[in-house]
Amino acid sequence: MSEAVERRTRTDSGTDTDDPLLRVEGLTKHFTQGSGLLASVFGTETVKAVEDVTFDIERGETLGLVGESGCGKSTLARTVLRLLDPTEGSVYFKGKDLAGLSGERLRREREDMQMIFQDPQSSLDPRMKVGPIVEEPMRAHGLYEGEREERARMLLNKVGLDPQHYNRFPHQFSGGQRQRVNLARALAVNPDFIVCDEPTSALDASIQAQVLNTMKELQREFGLTYLFISHDLSVIRHISDRVAVMYLGQLVELAGTDELFDNPQHPYTDALLRSIPVPDPRATGARGVLEGDVPSPIEPPSGCRFRTRCPKLIAPDDVPVTDSEWESVRAFMRAVHRRTITVDGGGERAIRSEYFVDGTPTGEAGDAVETAIDALLDDDVERADKILTETFADRSICAREQPAYEVDTENGDGRHFAACHLHR
Ligand SMILES: Nc1ncnc2c1ncn2[C@@H]1O[C@H](COP(=O)(O)OP(=O)(O)OP(=O)(O)O)[C@@H](O)[C@H]1O
Ligand code: SF4
Ligand SMILES: [Mg+2]
Repeated sequence: MSEAVERRTRTDSGTDTDDPLLRVEGLTKHFTQGSGLLASVFGTETVKAVEDVTFDIERGETLGLVGESGCGKSTLARTVLRLLDPTEGSVYFKGKDLAGLSGERLRREREDMQMIFQDPQSSLDPRMKVGPIVEEPMRAHGLYEGEREERARMLLNKVGLDPQHYNRFPHQFSGGQRQRVNLARALAVNPDFIVCDEPTSALDASIQAQVLNTMKELQREFGLTYLFISHDLSVIRHISDRVAVMYLGQLVELAGTDELFDNPQHPYTDALLRSIPVPDPRATGARGVLEGDVPSPIEPPSGCRFRTRCPKLIAPDDVPVTDSEWESVRAFMRAVHRRTITVDGGGERAIRSEYFVDGTPTGEAGDAVETAIDALLDDDVERADKILTETFADRSICAREQPAYEVDTENGDGRHFAACHLHR
């Protein structure tokens, strides 16, 4: 029995424990930017921060959520907790649709859902002592009347602080200790589910490890379920039972932690994993695994959102090329698109020997490559880029169709989701 399942069966929630604690279906969050005079002149823009995200979290489990900065992790977390109203989609918590709840009923469900943030400094009121800080959610929810101080002291102890420090102010604690105060506060109303948004990112590595270990112990003791957000893959690996990978507002892959790290199915995950343990990328030649900028969520790429950076972009069906020809064309196209190709000096020979040692392809593909090389020799990289994009990139299935986010039935444990046309 896995640790998560064991914890789940130990959790007495009084409801059907076969249901996931949390189920998120087709969750979408768009922000509209621009208002007033600016909007009347320039119009409004829609930031597609979270798009059609579906996953569930089992009781007692930690689901890690990882992705580059700006990919929508915090927006997803806040929308799950209904701190933001979803544009579309549903969140079921213990089987109840949170969208259908408001006012007092939503507030009551919220007791069971807490959140801790990256910056323990700014989320603690500097004028309040930590004891009353921990008691605050109990007061807000009208719980534990008459036993709040005792409970606050118990929780300070549980999170690894001295209960005697009940009367100290936040500034008298270190960063790691302040995050422990936050943990105690999150536990105050005895929640089932805690969203942790980069809770240890601001801490030194050794302190970070200690706080993570405390979080694991608290999880076991209180039967907690975590959604744990981090851009740090080593933290994610340490804490998570399963891991979801997010790119530009969408989940691209979700699998058990070992399965994901050992057998990544999505080219983005693969690139992320390869980009971790490299202290000096230039020294190991690992640079270029995740090249290029993340596109804007205002106008995300058509089809697969990762296609503008994907090293595995699929050849268009209607442009015949062999696999090795396609590898050459794709590398050439990427270099032209990123403007990392240099013509000066070596000229045509340099291009051919770097990208097309075995000659250029035949037919339409060859024509496009030759025309692009001519354009480069004319110093017209724009035209070269346009020819290659129109002939290859735009006609790839990766640009034309959004890949379904589905279980990979060929590989892994039957619970491995990925959204990539390579798994057609
Ligand atoms: N209130 C808002 N109005 C407009 N755009 C927003 C708003 N909040 C977030 N965004 C945009 O939504 C996208 C996702 O942001 P979000 O903060 O969720 O990313 P993140 O993955 O948490 O990033 P980080 O790792 O840096 O915390 C970004 O493009 C961001 O600029
Ligand atoms: S669908 Fe295409 S572009 Fe997207 S990850 Fe898969 S191969 Fe790459
Ligand atoms: Mg964030």
